[in-house]
Amino acid sequence: MGTLTGQVAVVTGGGSGIGKAICQQLSSQGAHVWVTDIQAEHASQVSEEIRQQGHQATAFRLDVTDHSAVRDFFAHVDQECGRVDILVNNAGIAGHPSLLVNMSDEAWMQMFNIHVHGSFYCLREAAKRMIQQNYGRVVNMSSLAAETSLAGFAHYGAVKYALVGLTEATAKELAGYQITVNAIKPGVIRSALTQGFLASAEERLATATPAKRIGNPEDIAMAVSMLVQPAASFVTGASLVVDGGFNLMNEMDRVMLDMLQ
Ligand SMILES: NC(=O)c1ccc[n+]([C@@H]2O[C@H](COP(=O)([O-])OP(=O)(O)OC[C@H]3O[C@@H](n4cnc5c(N)ncnc54)[C@H](O)[C@@H]3O)[C@@H](O)[C@H]2O)c1
Repeated sequence: MGTLTGQVAVVTGGGSGIGKAICQQLSSQGAHVWVTDIQAEHASQVSEEIRQQGHQATAFRLDVTDHSAVRDFFAHVDQECGRVDILVNNAGIAGHPSLLVNMSDEAWMQMFNIHVHGSFYCLREAAKRMIQQNYGRVVNMSSLAAETSLAGFAHYGAVKYALVGLTEATAKELAGYQITVNAIKPGVIRSALTQGFLASAEERLATATPAKRIGNPEDIAMAVSMLVQPAASFVTGASLVVDGGFNLMNEMDRVMLDMLQ
């Protein structure tokens, strides 16, 4: 029996990369995982793989930007499972880099629709159920871009900071119902989202990271697993950086380590 046996988990953007690893991790600990994604085929593949490993998963095509679809999806989960213990708001895109003066309304709005509005719609539905059952664990996927926003990614930085705001306000609102809400800020993680960028930058980034490697989706899934455990009941409103130490390093550290190692 795993620590999440009998629990129901909803993961958005579960069809690839970090979301897929989260679905695999939570199901391996006994949760029935709803693998949701805008790409129905990817969600089906992931849930099929999980079931083949003897765990519980159900695929569902869900576009998080569609608030009535989100409402209908949670009503469907009610009928099938009768509860929602874990929500991981993970669906996202990186968008294209652009200077603010050249950024289109469409690019800006799409970023907000997926990350901010999508997470809000899902959290609002999940929270109603979690309040009723007096238990819940929520993880919002922010980014290291909410520690220091990258030039060329004003839209991405803005939404990832917004997710920290959503996390902190709702952590306070929901703590009295035994519901925790936390954010994770991944560093650079190997996935479809970073594939193009890593093709040229991987070696340089790995060298600059104290852990001497790029992150894998499983590194983030492990952090999610820590935060959603029933025993993690006192951890709420936190933003956990998971980046192999990358963000802590500065030039002075490099000088010191070169001198001493
Ligand atoms: N990879 C990284 O280095 C990194 C770093 C920090 C944060 N993140 C965040 O982690 C999350 C997952 O990213 P990833 O690297 O696994 O990328 P990914 O592209 O592999 O996965 C993102 C998933 O989200 C889905 N998705 C996109 N729009 C959607 C929508 N409207 N509704 C439902 N699903 C939708 C995609 O279909 C895809 O399966 C994102 O929120 C991303 O911003 C990633």
